[in-house]
Amino acid sequence: MNLVPRIVELEGELTAWRRDFHAHPELGYEERRTSELVAERLASFGIEVHRGLAGTGVVGTLRGKLGDGPAIGLRADMDALPMDEMTNLPHASKHAGRMHACGHDGHTTMLLGAARYLAETRNFKGTVHFIFQPAEEMLCGGERMVKEGLFDLFPCSQVYGMHNSPSFAPGQIGVRAGPVLAAADTFEITLTGRGGHGAFPHTTIDPVVVGAHVITALQTLISRQLDPIDSGVVSVTRMHAGSADNVIPPHAILGGTTRAFRPETRAALIEGVHRIANSVAHALRAEAEVRFSEAAYPPTIATEAEAQHAAAIAAKVVGDAGVIWDHPPIMGGEDFAFMLQKVPGAFVMLGGDGGDDPIMCHDPRFDFNDATLKIGASFWARLVEETLSA
Ligand code: NI
Repeated sequence: MNLVPRIVELEGELTAWRRDFHAHPELGYEERRTSELVAERLASFGIEVHRGLAGTGVVGTLRGKLGDGPAIGLRADMDALPMDEMTNLPHASKHAGRMHACGHDGHTTMLLGAARYLAETRNFKGTVHFIFQPAEEMLCGGERMVKEGLFDLFPCSQVYGMHNSPSFAPGQIGVRAGPVLAAADTFEITLTGRGGHGAFPHTTIDPVVVGAHVITALQTLISRQLDPIDSGVVSVTRMHAGSADNVIPPHAILGGTTRAFRPETRAALIEGVHRIANSVAHALRAEAEVRFSEAAYPPTIATEAEAQHAAAIAAKVVGDAGVIWDHPPIMGGEDFAFMLQKVPGAFVMLGGDGGDDPIMCHDPRFDFNDATLKIGASFWARLVEETLSA
C-alpha cells in the first residue's frame, strides 16, 4: 500500500469526523448540520465554498499552485437512510429512524480528508471541485445539482465518484468501464375491482386475486421476455389490500422496482409492467393504474478512458493486486449517474469488508470501516495530483 503520509497522519481526526457524522445522520435534503460542517471545514482549509445547489449541496473549489490547467470534479454523498440503527456502537445514530447505513458518512469524510491535504500542498496544475451532494438515496440530489447548473458553474472535464463496497476487502478498489450500477425505477400499481362480502365473490371483482395474477405474470418479463444474456430485475416488494377476513376489498396496491443496465432494457421493463398490469387486470374484469416514480436513476456508466485512468491511480495506492478491474456490474442504483451523463468519468468501489458474510449497505448493523478512510482519501489525493500533473 502506498498511502499519502500526511493523510495517514490525519487518520485519528478523520475517524473522529466520520463517527461524528455517523452519530448525527440526516435524511436527503435535510443535511443542514452535515453541510454546515463540510462548508466550515472546507473554508478552514482555505478552499472557496459555494453553497445552495440542490438546497444543502456544497462545492469547494481549489486551484493548484503549478498554474492553469483543466478542472476535475470529485463527488461524495452526504445523506442517511430512514431506518433504525442496530449496531450498539458508541457512535451509533442519536436519532431514531435515521441511520448512515450506506457509508455516506465515510464518503463525505474521505473527500474532506483529501481536500485538506490538497489545500495544504496544492501540488497540481488546474482546478479541483469537491462536490458534496445531498439526497442520493432515491431522492435525486445529484440530478438536482446538475439541473441547477453544477457543471455550468463549475465546468469539469472529468468527474469521479466513490462508494464503499462491503463485498471487497479493505485495500481493494473495484473499477470497471461501461455500466457500473443499474438504472433504478420504482412503480406502484393500483388495482381496482369491486368490494363486497367474502362469502359472495361472484358479486365482487376481487382485486386480491388480480394482484396475485399480476405478480405472477410480471415474473415472465425477466424469465421469458428478456434476452438471457442481458440482465434485469423486476421485484414486487409491497402488496396492500383489505382490512377484514370476510370482506373482499375494492382495491389492491402493489409496489416494486425494476433494474436494468441498458437503456433499451430499462424501457422494455417499464413498458412491460404497464402492459402486464393493464392486460391481466382487464382479463379479470378489473382496472389497473400504473405509476412509475419520477425519482428514477439511469444506469451509472463509466467512460473507458476515465475508468482505465482511475484503475491506474488505484494501483498506485493499493498496488496492482488490490485493483479489481472489471468487477461484475451491480444492480444497485446511484444518482452519480446524472453527473456521468454530462461529464466523462468513473465510479470506484472502495473495499470495506470482503469476508464470507459481509454486512452489506442498508443493513441496520452496517458501519463504515474507518480503517479504509485513509485509503479512499489517498486515492482522491493521488487522482488529483496525477490527473492534473504539470
Ligand atoms: Ni450509497
